[in-house]
Amino acid sequence: MAFRIRPGSEIPDSQVTPQAIYAGRRRFLRFTAAAAAGGIAGFGGAQASQTGTKLSGVSKSSFTTEEELTTFNDATSYNNFYEFGTDKKDPAEHAHTLKTRPWTVVVEGQVDKPGRFDIDEILGWMSLEERTYRFRCVEAWSMIIPWVGFPLADLLKRFEPRASAKYVEFETLLDPEQMRGQRYPILDWPYREGLRMDEAMNPLTLIAVGMYGETLPNQNGAPLRLVVPWKYGFKSIKSIVRMNFRESQPRTTWNDSAPREYGFFSNVNPDRPHPRWSQAKERRIAGERSLLESLFANRIPTLPFNGYGEQVAGLYSGMDLQKFF
Ligand code: MTE
Repeated sequence: MAFRIRPGSEIPDSQVTPQAIYAGRRRFLRFTAAAAAGGIAGFGGAQASQTGTKLSGVSKSSFTTEEELTTFNDATSYNNFYEFGTDKKDPAEHAHTLKTRPWTVVVEGQVDKPGRFDIDEILGWMSLEERTYRFRCVEAWSMIIPWVGFPLADLLKRFEPRASAKYVEFETLLDPEQMRGQRYPILDWPYREGLRMDEAMNPLTLIAVGMYGETLPNQNGAPLRLVVPWKYGFKSIKSIVRMNFRESQPRTTWNDSAPREYGFFSNVNPDRPHPRWSQAKERRIAGERSLLESLFANRIPTLPFNGYGEQVAGLYSGMDLQKFF
């Protein structure tokens, strides 16, 4: 059931989505066997996207691309959020079970002001801005999304990181009751990501709490997620419950699963192919719903650092980006 070539994916499942298949073939097979036994619906149509609450007092940011926006419908019905299943349609169909209030974010590690913070307390500290960013998935598709959020740096500074904080690690909620995908060993739950401190503090790095002027739909990572526009999408971890400031580089989910395929840095790089496909071009998601349509879809060149090189290339000066991928 879950092995059909996915509508809207020009690259066969065996090459792309899986991440799950190759990263953990045995775990994935166990998952699909369990799914078959448990009757998980693999290919129902995505449910209508949940309507969010309109966000007010949002300023426009100058960090914005003028490219044509991906439609709200595409951005909220073609998702990767393995906690709700591995098909692109699964998150829109199943993420309504995620409860986003109350929501606590634990802050710990190398900071002077650690603690447990309620999402609404955090929102009270921050002023919101809209930033339209390019978003490039490692699977070679891309979107243009108008995020609403605030610079991660503004949040992290409040916790007063110590000089010893060299990295920050993020963790998604672990709750198989709410997140049905976590009942199966698709990944080593909870989903974890991390950034070097200078990457986290870069003005482009955003915490999104909304998109298209509304609160984030659950399938896009409500109530708060990371958005790192110059890195492949899997760095942009959803539904964050923990931030841990560390001296050493944290382990991260995809890097743990397949270290040769998914690096810690994962900067968008057209000159470094993924071991199983080229990264030179990308397919802008634009409503195509059949395999045939996607085969003929426009491919556009992928830009180094997803087009944000001017702002971020300096973070990596002197590093061999073929080696530190
Ligand atoms: N975060 C969690 N917790 N779980 C996931 O499976 N998928 C990642 C990233 N963040 C993922 C996640 C991947 S592979 C991508 S491409 C983006 O979320 C997709 O974000 P979108 O669905 O909003 O486009």
